[in-house]
Amino acid sequence: MTAHRVCIVGSGAREHALALALGRSADVLVTPGNPGIRGKTAEGFTLTSEDRPAPLVEADLYVIGPEAPLVDGMADDLRASGCLVFGPGRDGARLEGSKMAMKQLCSEAGIPTARWAAFDELWPAVRFLRALPGPYVVKTDGLAAGKGVLVTPDVEEAISDVTAKLSGSSFGAAGERVVIEEAMSGPELSLFAVCDGRRSVPLAPAQDYKRVGDGDTGPNTGGMGACSPLPGVGEALVDDVMDRIVSPALSFLHRSGVDYRGLLYAGLMLTADGPRLVEFNVRFGDPETEVVLARMSGDLTRLLACAAEGDLRPAAGEATFRDEAAVCVVAAAPGYPSAPVLGGPVSGVERAGTLEGVTVFHAGTRLRDDGTLVTAGGRVLCVTALGRDLASARERAYEAVGLVEFEGKVVRHDIAEAAAKGELG
Ligand code: AMP
Ligand code: GLY
Repeated sequence: MTAHRVCIVGSGAREHALALALGRSADVLVTPGNPGIRGKTAEGFTLTSEDRPAPLVEADLYVIGPEAPLVDGMADDLRASGCLVFGPGRDGARLEGSKMAMKQLCSEAGIPTARWAAFDELWPAVRFLRALPGPYVVKTDGLAAGKGVLVTPDVEEAISDVTAKLSGSSFGAAGERVVIEEAMSGPELSLFAVCDGRRSVPLAPAQDYKRVGDGDTGPNTGGMGACSPLPGVGEALVDDVMDRIVSPALSFLHRSGVDYRGLLYAGLMLTADGPRLVEFNVRFGDPETEVVLARMSGDLTRLLACAAEGDLRPAAGEATFRDEAAVCVVAAAPGYPSAPVLGGPVSGVERAGTLEGVTVFHAGTRLRDDGTLVTAGGRVLCVTALGRDLASARERAYEAVGLVEFEGKVVRHDIAEAAAKGELG
């Protein structure tokens, strides 16, 4: 099975990267898409952005990018009208829509993760915090665009965070229940698995840089950069994560009657006791997708179409990757993540895209009526480069991000720095 025409739902750099990858073997329409998604791919397929509800788009395959429409049941609605969809239904999407549901699955399926408890009242939460050794991790149960997590060594800070979350003042309804965890330590890694309901196949591992500032300082963001491959992370580790984390989750879901056809994203920490799950997401990660798909040599359209049909086996061999490395550096708006200042003109995108190996994915841009490209989201551009190794990919990505301009551009300077030296940061 393959698809000739694919509809992607979403508007960010992840959807832009999916469009280019799927556009190697199919015509792609992205709704609502973004100003970067248009024209033809090198292989001659068309890329279109159009703000049209997905059910009104005719396609052989629908790929839903962000978590919110998945949690809201868009995949169920499309399937109910006979469409082939890559993306879990509302039942599977609860893994990301509720951190408590995700942790419960870990407990029931025996998946290694941090000790945890969930609370919707302050005093039991405070008692639990005071009994933990610290550092402390406080998460909103509901969706918070990657920003609802506090990790702190200070119990008083953890308590005020719980207070703000539970009162609804910091994250609204998403925070009215919190999950408190023991902190783990070790390098983080993201592994994506394409799932067909029973079977799964891993994509190349990647690393995401979550904090806004150099040296992993400042608040958590949606991700300020990414790289793939990772030093020391080979097939053996990927197999271990598949065996101990991804496959047990998928089997548990299947036994519970959840037909999970979509991407399962395992956010992992490589602790002294081996890989542990930090979180599951139910969609491609952003900006990891930009680097993973840049390295993919197999046919993504065929892989996702087979998974969506319920049997990925004929296409499992498509999950292949080049030896080359990819590095993505995000250019964010000033004030990101708490209060990004938007609307300023953006220049240099085309020039950056002409550098060898470089693709500039649009994350938060908009074309004004007069044709000027302006910033329209906290993360504005995800500048991604391929190179023969991480050091050369990194050099190209930084050269390219230096060519894009907008007022107050925020860039981390240490994306893939340690990885390029062979260290897993
Ligand atoms: P999450 O949204 O659950 O992925 O959390 C965002 C980030 O917070 C993760 O990528 C980690 O850097 C950090 N984090 C989350 N849970 C823990 C934990 N139990 N221990 C240490 N750090 C964590
Ligand atoms: N890069 C983190 C995420 O997509 O959730």
